[in-house]
Amino acid sequence: MTDLYYSDYLELDKILNSQNPKSSLQTDELLFIVIHQTYELWFKQVIHEIDIVREIFASEKVNDNAGEMSIAVHKLKRVVKIFEVLVQQVSILETMTSMDFLEFRNLLQPSSGFQSLQFRIIEAKLGLKMEERYKSEYYKNIRQGGFNVGDYESITNVEKEATLKELIVKWAERTPFFDESLWKEYQSLYPIENGIQKFWSDYKQIYKNSLSNAEQKQLEMLEKVFYQDGSGDFSMNAMRAVLFIMMYRNLPIFHLPFDLLTTLIDIDELLSQWRYRHMLMTRRMIGMRVGTGGTSGAGYLEGALRQHYIFKELNEVTTFLIERSKLPELPNAVKEKMSFNTK
Ligand code: HEM
Repeated sequence: MTDLYYSDYLELDKILNSQNPKSSLQTDELLFIVIHQTYELWFKQVIHEIDIVREIFASEKVNDNAGEMSIAVHKLKRVVKIFEVLVQQVSILETMTSMDFLEFRNLLQPSSGFQSLQFRIIEAKLGLKMEERYKSEYYKNIRQGGFNVGDYESITNVEKEATLKELIVKWAERTPFFDESLWKEYQSLYPIENGIQKFWSDYKQIYKNSLSNAEQKQLEMLEKVFYQDGSGDFSMNAMRAVLFIMMYRNLPIFHLPFDLLTTLIDIDELLSQWRYRHMLMTRRMIGMRVGTGGTSGAGYLEGALRQHYIFKELNEVTTFLIERSKLPELPNAVKEKMSFNTK
């Protein structure tokens, strides 16, 4: 057997022979290609990590004894780090001026980063649905610059699998915190409202007392989100679990779940940061021209930035937090049960 050789292992002959500018070698097109390819390689890694995390959460009980929860959080933190680099990388491309770009821009029509299948797959696997997308008609192959039939189908097929968001909702719903049997010893602070679990009956009062006159409307929101409908894709029970984890996050058993929720918020925030940086770069590069992919350009990107948050419900929860000193004391049975390695 011959020794493994660096360039063979990495198949550098393929990678390094895959930059074929359409313009003359004097332009910045090589940079433009290299940076896109780098993004695509990182997208590939991100998809790989998200798939592992989805697999972990797809099991009925995330087994913390086997460290699955910590593997999931670790993988998601890696995704955060990759996205930090992806945001940073925009500044390398910004060393190309808009006149430099004009040298070869017309040769690229009607292709565009809009058609990045891997980027769309990341969005879809995280939980963004076609109908929630800004100008979703742009995606269909009804105009130049949309997706070809195969890629459009790939995106919609990915949507049929369980998204990370759906799996997180199910996981939150499965948490055993509010089984009545655990709350027998709970000392209610206020008279218990009929038909409402003891803790949540108290919580409504505590939250109400924490509101200033100007904030009274928040109580209606609290009712809606934590006592009736939930919020967005998160059911009432899922929202309750998330709020509970955020409130009692100092308990050791909640460290990982809290880390998980925070990391999901980080991913959403970094995706938005990337969208924002990319939009600013686009404005600076092409002003108000339409994109090579035939959208309105910066206008489209602004719409996507506004609309494509994935875990927005998690941020919403913070509206309903209270001061730590006002948190009710939990009964021992709950503290003991607050483990994700339930039998
Ligand atoms: C000169 C630099 C760039 C310009 C002027 C530019 C411009 C645009 C424009 C105008 C769009 C909207 C679709 C269209 O009509 O074309 C778009 C979308 C997009 N571009 Fe770029 N882009 C640049 C670099 C990049 C790079 C380096 C990437 C990395 C993969 C990228 C990825 C994307 C993605 C993923 C979208 C879809 C965004 C979304 O829907 O939220 N672009 N780009």
